[in-house]
Amino acid sequence: MPARKIIIDTDPGQDDAVAILLALGSPKEIEVLGITAVAGNVPLELTQKNARMICELAGRPDIPVFAGSKNPLAKRLVTAEHVHGKTGLDGPTLPDPTMPLQEKHAVDFIIETLRAQPAGSVTLCPLGPLTNIASAFNQAPDIIEKVQEIVLMGGAYFEVGNITPAAEFNIYVDPEAAEIVFKAGAPITVMPLDVTHKALVTKARNDAFRDLGTPVGIAVAEMTDFFERYDKEKYGSEGAPLHDPTVIAYLIKPKLFTGRFINVEIETKSVLTRGMTVADWWRVTDREPNAMFMGDIDADGFFTLLTDRLARL
Ligand code: RIB
Ligand code: CA
Repeated sequence: MPARKIIIDTDPGQDDAVAILLALGSPKEIEVLGITAVAGNVPLELTQKNARMICELAGRPDIPVFAGSKNPLAKRLVTAEHVHGKTGLDGPTLPDPTMPLQEKHAVDFIIETLRAQPAGSVTLCPLGPLTNIASAFNQAPDIIEKVQEIVLMGGAYFEVGNITPAAEFNIYVDPEAAEIVFKAGAPITVMPLDVTHKALVTKARNDAFRDLGTPVGIAVAEMTDFFERYDKEKYGSEGAPLHDPTVIAYLIKPKLFTGRFINVEIETKSVLTRGMTVADWWRVTDREPNAMFMGDIDADGFFTLLTDRLARL
């Protein structure tokens, strides 16, 4: 089975970093064609820098990293330094990147890659706000039918919001972009908070990262030590939800997840619920299903896979 070709669109972010490391630790299953940075957890100049730092931590300065959208399509940028720290990668002390940022804009890279690769052979893996993806679809609608699948982290149903009472952060930052992506017609698989809040980095799981004793294992443990304080305080949980790596784990071992093919639409008008993913989980409307919306995860299986792959870097 050839490795699956993916583009990771990301706003690192400690959990984005772990997702990138999981992908780079799984070369038999995944070929990372490129990483496109978007503004989200922290502004773009930091997300593009963090993405390069993580590639170098993984020993992969060959991975092309592109900078994309500085701002959401319609409203001002909302960031999450309160969760991820000033740098977006607080926790470990990592060296500044030496690998270059690609000249090309991330949106142009997405468009050109989808046009150049055989139709249906490239999966888009958005781990942050959907601004780059929506911009690519707006600029080049012809690429939509060429997308093999969009596997994204975002949204929530039973878990409702984490940045507002109604909305999950990635969708909330750019609901107009999310609406474009969810209505585009490309196959979509969603990893919402309903799943990621069941992927908690308990002490035992974080110790397993640290006990790898490698620069990657120790850095991931230090990222989690920082990243988890916010969620543990807010939810009283026994660890941080490791949101974004669930996207990559799905590509490697889909059986770790269960969900439903349902209709998901995005609230863009209401001030109160802007960015809410209105998921018809109980199929009470006649709206056409448009997304595989995941609801459960084999958390032990997920962490076993993740630790095994991090150990390979
Ligand atoms: O709500 C969680 C999501 O928002 C994750 O992707 C995290 O990195 C932040 O981008
Ligand atoms: Ca993210």
